[in-house]
Amino acid sequence: MPNVADHYGLRKIDMSNKPKVYIETYGCQMNVNDTEVVFSILISAGYERTEDISDADVIFANTCSVRDNAEQRIWGRIEQFNLQKKNRDGVIVGILGCMAERLKDKLLGTKKVDIVAGPDAYRSLPRLLEAVRPDSPQIDVLLSREETYGDITPVRIDKNGVSAFISIMRGCNNVCSYCVVPYTRGVERSRDPHTIVREAEDVFAKGYKEVTLLGQNVDSYLWKCDSGDINFTALLGMVAKVSPELRIRFSTSNPQDISDEVLYTMAAHDNICKHIHLPVQSGSDRMLEKMRRRYSREWYLQRVARIREILPGCGLTTDVIAGFCSETEEDHKLTLSLFDEVCFDTAFMFYYSERPGTIAARNYPDDVDIETKTRRLNEIIELQNKKSLESYRKDVGKRFKVLVEGPSKKNPEELCGRASNNKMCVFPDVFHKAGDYVEVEVLSCTSATLICRLV
Ligand code: SAH
Ligand code: SF4
Ligand code: F3S
Repeated sequence: MPNVADHYGLRKIDMSNKPKVYIETYGCQMNVNDTEVVFSILISAGYERTEDISDADVIFANTCSVRDNAEQRIWGRIEQFNLQKKNRDGVIVGILGCMAERLKDKLLGTKKVDIVAGPDAYRSLPRLLEAVRPDSPQIDVLLSREETYGDITPVRIDKNGVSAFISIMRGCNNVCSYCVVPYTRGVERSRDPHTIVREAEDVFAKGYKEVTLLGQNVDSYLWKCDSGDINFTALLGMVAKVSPELRIRFSTSNPQDISDEVLYTMAAHDNICKHIHLPVQSGSDRMLEKMRRRYSREWYLQRVARIREILPGCGLTTDVIAGFCSETEEDHKLTLSLFDEVCFDTAFMFYYSERPGTIAARNYPDDVDIETKTRRLNEIIELQNKKSLESYRKDVGKRFKVLVEGPSKKNPEELCGRASNNKMCVFPDVFHKAGDYVEVEVLSCTSATLICRLV
């Protein structure tokens, strides 16, 4: 029976008996970290976490709006949540995150949602939960110029206890024409570096061995302070000093902004992993300009050349969008040729999904038909699969230091973990455990895994 009290006929959540909260997380790594912040806020306010939806008094989805299919999935989940509501009177259903921010009170119009809270409104959740009544849903979608949740220690929800996400900034000041993120997450703001270092120290003390610093554009991290500004390079140096045993990763780098200084800092610290996620989006200058990406194909290729010069063997991954507005066969071939030339380790590949309110939606017709979008995307995927294999083959015969994440999915007698370049390694080993560092030699590979032996 859910936790509801009836005071004067007004059914409200009963705080005398630790209400249980269940959260499903969609979208990017930042959303995973946001869910951890939400748990922290709610646990401090007297709630308890549950992983069992049928046991929950409060059901939240922390949502993503980046593509239409991300939102469609959530609509399906809202229907499922309502079955819980029907079966158990008093269950509260809430939508958090980017879709809450984008659709605002439209979500309440469905009568299936009790709470709508945007990415900067999580401190209000205890208040919204207290105020919610069957006929009085609650909404807070105010975006902030300051909120970074810098003082909140996230409650880790990962399973392996080895690798933690730390948000170093929120929002985005780039207005890539296809992208909804600046509208759902607001303006860019950086988090106090001392709280970031403290969080890294805290997770290390709890046994974690890897932190991933998160932001939509980490290269523009900037903390202004009287004793001297701290940029991303300086922040990397500060976090790298927490312990040589703590690995540092970061995402996402912007081709326009990633500096040689960052590359040299990576080179100078063994514990900063040699992997860069550098979304290219398209290989055609005409598309890049229309997308409002502030670099050209040539600039991108030069950055890649610089990465490979300063950081030999550095892992390189990307994101790409097929079938953006007015994309021709020629533009598409330029994307294919860039993929051929660069040889990424892996790529996140999407076809263009028009997002209402963005510059592209307001100005350019979504005029590449779905068959063409799908065909082009499939051509990119097919090429990338070959290039992934090519990239992984280059590592056969090499030795890597691997941070063990746990047993491999396929074989309990094997362990898995990542090399510094972010490639997944598997190797027979029943002695080591999650969090150990081991040395391996690569014997063979697939297009997504390095098959290794301990040395
Ligand atoms: N800040 C990161 C990207 C965040 S969104 C950056 O600038 O690279 C993650 C990825 O989703 C993007 O890199 C892009 O490839 C994809 N994406 C964003 N908007 C999209 C849209 N409208 N349609 C299809 N893919 C999109
Ligand atoms: Fe979106 Fe561009 Fe910002 Fe990335 S940098 S979040 S693609 S607007
Ligand atoms: Fe999605 Fe929002 Fe992240 S739109 S990709 S959850 S910033």
